[in-house]
Amino acid sequence: MNRKIVILGTGGTIAGTAASSSDHTGYTAAQVGIAQLVGAVPALAGGPCDLVTEQVAQIDSKDMSFSVWARLAERVSHFLAQPEVQGIVVTHGTDTLEETAWLLHALLVPAKPVVLTCAMRPATALAPDGPQNLLDAVAVAAHPGARGVLAVCAGVIHGAPDVQKVHTYRLDAFSSGDAGPVGYVEEGRLRLMRNWPEAPVHKALAAIKKIVTQQDGSGWPRVDIVMNYAGAGASVVQALVASGVQGLVVAATGNGTLHQDLEAALLQAQAAGVRVVRATRCLEGRVLPRAGDLLADSQGLSPVKARVALMLELMANGS
Ligand code: SIN
Repeated sequence: MNRKIVILGTGGTIAGTAASSSDHTGYTAAQVGIAQLVGAVPALAGGPCDLVTEQVAQIDSKDMSFSVWARLAERVSHFLAQPEVQGIVVTHGTDTLEETAWLLHALLVPAKPVVLTCAMRPATALAPDGPQNLLDAVAVAAHPGARGVLAVCAGVIHGAPDVQKVHTYRLDAFSSGDAGPVGYVEEGRLRLMRNWPEAPVHKALAAIKKIVTQQDGSGWPRVDIVMNYAGAGASVVQALVASGVQGLVVAATGNGTLHQDLEAALLQAQAAGVRVVRATRCLEGRVLPRAGDLLADSQGLSPVKARVALMLELMANGS
C-alpha cells in the first residue's frame, strides 16, 4: 500500500491570476485549479508518497463561510481516517488562514499532519511564492511523526494555536508571536524548534462535529467581535444583543482593559445570557487573568481564534 498525501484546494492568492506578471495586488484570487497548481511544481513528482488532489472550494478566503468550513472539515476528516493517508495539505488564502487552521485543529485534533499553505503573490507573478510553499507543505505533511494543524509559509512552520497573519504584503507574512515557530523547512528538510502543537479536547466533540458539518451552516451560534478603542461606548454591544447575538469576543486594549462604558455594556450583555470573552488587540502577549475577573479571558487566543473557540463551546453546550 503506497502512502498518500492528499492536497485539498480552497482558493486564495496561491490560485490567483493577474493580467500582468508584475502585478502583485491587482489580481483575482481563486482562479487556478488545485490539479494545475500541483502540476506546475515538477519537484512534487517522484516523492515518497503518492499525491491525490481534490478541489474543495475556490474562494478568496475573505469570503470564508460556515458552509465551506463544513465541507473542508468533512473532507479533511474523511481523508484522515484512511490508513494510507500520511498527511493532508490544504491550499488556502492568507487572509483567514489562521481561523481555518484553529477550527480544524480544535475540531479534528488530528494525530496526522494537516498543513495549510498559501501565497502572497498570485500564480502568474514573475516569481510566485506558491510553488515553494506547496513543496515545503508537502515535505511537512510527509514528515514521520508530524501531527496537528500547521501552517507553512516562506519556509516557516507555524502551529495552529499561534499562527497569525502580521503583514499585508511581505512574502513572510505570518508570525507565531511569543511562542515562536514550530520549525523551518530548509532544502526539503525540517529543522524543528519545538513540539508539534497540542489541541484542546472538547467534551462534546462528536456533537460539535455534527453541527459543524451540516452543510447549510444553520447550527452555528452567532458570535461577533467588538473592539476597545478611545471613545468606545455601549451602542455596538447593545445593537448586537438586540439582534440576538449569542457570544461576544472583545478585542480589549493591552492586558484586557476596556473603556468603562464598553465594559458596562459587556457586563450587561453577560448578565442577559450572552457569553463574553476578553482577548487582546495586542499582536503579542495574552490577557493575564486575575482572581475575581468579571469577564473570562481568551486563554491566549487572538480575537478571531477566540471567536471560533467560543462558537465551538456554545455548540458543545447546545446553544
Ligand atoms: C485570500 O485570502 O484568499 C486572498 C489573499 C491571499 O491569499 O493572500
